[in-house]
Amino acid sequence: MTPNLQAIVDEIVAAMAAETERGAPARYIPGLAALSTDRFGMAVVTADGATAMGGDAEMPFSIQSISKVFALTMALGKIGDQLWRRVGREPSGNAFNSIVQLEAEHGIPRNPFINAGAIVVADVNLSGHMPRESIGELLRFVRFLADDETIVVDEAIARGEAETGYRNIALANYMRAFGNIHHSVELVLGCYFHQCAIAMSCLQLAMAGRFLMLDGMQPGAGRVISPRRARRINALMLTCGHYDASGDFAFRIGMPGKSGVGGGILAVVPGKASIAVWSPGLNASGNSQLGTLALERLAEATGWSIF
Ligand code: DON
Repeated sequence: MTPNLQAIVDEIVAAMAAETERGAPARYIPGLAALSTDRFGMAVVTADGATAMGGDAEMPFSIQSISKVFALTMALGKIGDQLWRRVGREPSGNAFNSIVQLEAEHGIPRNPFINAGAIVVADVNLSGHMPRESIGELLRFVRFLADDETIVVDEAIARGEAETGYRNIALANYMRAFGNIHHSVELVLGCYFHQCAIAMSCLQLAMAGRFLMLDGMQPGAGRVISPRRARRINALMLTCGHYDASGDFAFRIGMPGKSGVGGGILAVVPGKASIAVWSPGLNASGNSQLGTLALERLAEATGWSIF
């Protein structure tokens, strides 16, 4: 472990408390809009099993699009590389909820981390079952990864999103028209909205990300995925994990990462650390303002980068 890791985290937590540019919470999902931008949490789990954390690191929040990493891992487990017939692997350069590329690209989303791609992944994970079973499977997987049975879905967030999710409903219908959604749109979105509403703390998220730092191995439990698959998921997080700000995130931080509009970010330093940060205020691209800044500071202080 970096010897002074806890001191570095303490310093970052103090610096974030003093920041005045804190962004604004996502307004389009009821239940997220009211979150205070005063909140900030950070947890780091290193390859040797040490943990450093600070601020609101143990407060659960809506993981939103970070769930796309776990859902992708599960879908690859089900159908392997066949998934890539239905979802691309290129950055979209567009907002996370954009529909524009789908028309020219025959209903095949650019990557599994934009909403359209994650909705296809949810369709794969549904695999003929009911949403309750599919979500139960994902929840069990996330609990296993985090080694924590207390993780649950925030039903109020899931309901709120179902009531206001017109864009996602449009995306799912549009892809269904191209034959790239196989189940009913209602069932697929039932899964998608519930996976986004999984509530986890920074500590739980950093724990759940360990298999990505360790080439697919889960400490104490064995292999979750192959090293090749772990590297590929990390590659997608680097190139697509922050939507149209993925290039900037790679430039500033240099780690694979996945953000969510709940204000969380999961970042991975292969072989070294699994990191989660949370602060509900978002920047113009829909990524956590302080979370991004905190990761930048951590990368500077530790020298952690994949480059
Ligand atoms: O589908 C949505 O709009 C949300 N449930 C998730 C979006 C999200 O987290 C995008 N991330 N930055």
